[in-house]
Amino acid sequence: MRVAVFSTKSYDQRYLELANALHDHGHELTFFEPRLLESTAPLAAGFPAVCAFVNDQLGGPVLRALHAQGTELVALRSAGFNHVDLAVASELGMTVVRVPAYSPHAVAEHALALVMALNRKTFRAYNRVREGNFSLEGLLGFDLHGKTVGVIGTGKIGLIFARIMRGLGCRVLAFDPYPSPEAEEFVTYVSRAELFAAADVISLHCPLTPETHHLIDDDTVDQMKDGVMLINTSRGQLVDTRAVIEGLKCDRIGHLGLDVYEEEEDLFFQDLSDRVIRDDVFSRLLTFPNVLITGHQGFFTREAVTSIAETTLANVTAYERGHGTMHVVTADKIA
Ligand code: NAI
Repeated sequence: MRVAVFSTKSYDQRYLELANALHDHGHELTFFEPRLLESTAPLAAGFPAVCAFVNDQLGGPVLRALHAQGTELVALRSAGFNHVDLAVASELGMTVVRVPAYSPHAVAEHALALVMALNRKTFRAYNRVREGNFSLEGLLGFDLHGKTVGVIGTGKIGLIFARIMRGLGCRVLAFDPYPSPEAEEFVTYVSRAELFAAADVISLHCPLTPETHHLIDDDTVDQMKDGVMLINTSRGQLVDTRAVIEGLKCDRIGHLGLDVYEEEEDLFFQDLSDRVIRDDVFSRLLTFPNVLITGHQGFFTREAVTSIAETTLANVTAYERGHGTMHVVTADKIA
């Protein structure tokens, strides 16, 4: 199938080409660097399939533009599909497929990396030692062993993160409207309010839905323990950034680790080191010594990138051969 691949980075091209050759898919892949937006949609004219990533725009106007140009399949290189207007896709008869799981370990391990780095301040120690400053002032951490960790969302990633934290000797509390029987063996399900009140570390692993939008706001920050560590590797809009800045300013939040940010689409996945960052809220976050931000790299391991490429192309092949059932997402059904 002819596939227009948007938001292409060198690694997308390399791994998609490898998977295409290795599994004899025979797709004709055309790589475009720009993000998919209304203004870039014309690049996909005549392509029956479009391949998109997390910060591509797939709202109604873009879907209508793609459809008018002959696109019938949208193949997401992501698990999350909150950026796709599924109602419009179904009205237009377009199929949307995704990669439901690539490496939940990659994201869970990145959440752990944020916890560890924030606690022992390794990112600050690294700079100090390089400048010949061996002072330990300000680097005091705490033992994770014996602490209470709150996991919000115990799906594939949350469950692995919970296991890791149990392995470190933490008590793990969890909140999920659909508790996992597997998790019940080693986590204690509690209400959200109980979790906020008891956890020393809170990690978000639920999807972005209307219900979870700004799950962390002024009210929930107020319910947290003083000095809590908050980690978000899920979706930026789970957190009201202004509320966590207030929480940091009054020491309610003692550490903040983010791999996602609510306005990340104009920042992440590109080199802006020569430009002025115009997002004042993001710039304020960067001024705190106890905030560690990574640019949506939780998924970025060799294993995950290989799996994303393989599943994406297998989805396209299944669609092409009329086995259109592979990992299709519709407004009322998720595979
Ligand atoms: P999953 O679908 O396996 O698990 C999500 C869990 O959240 C489910 O158990 C569900 O019941 C629960 N949930 C739903 N609504 C909830 C609510 N209101 N409160 C608490 N829990 C709720 O998803 P998976 O694979 O574990 O991924 C979790 C999230 O991680 C994804 O939605 C995505 O946003 C994010 N992600 C981030 C990546 C990164 O690179 N940083 C990469 C991949 C995923």
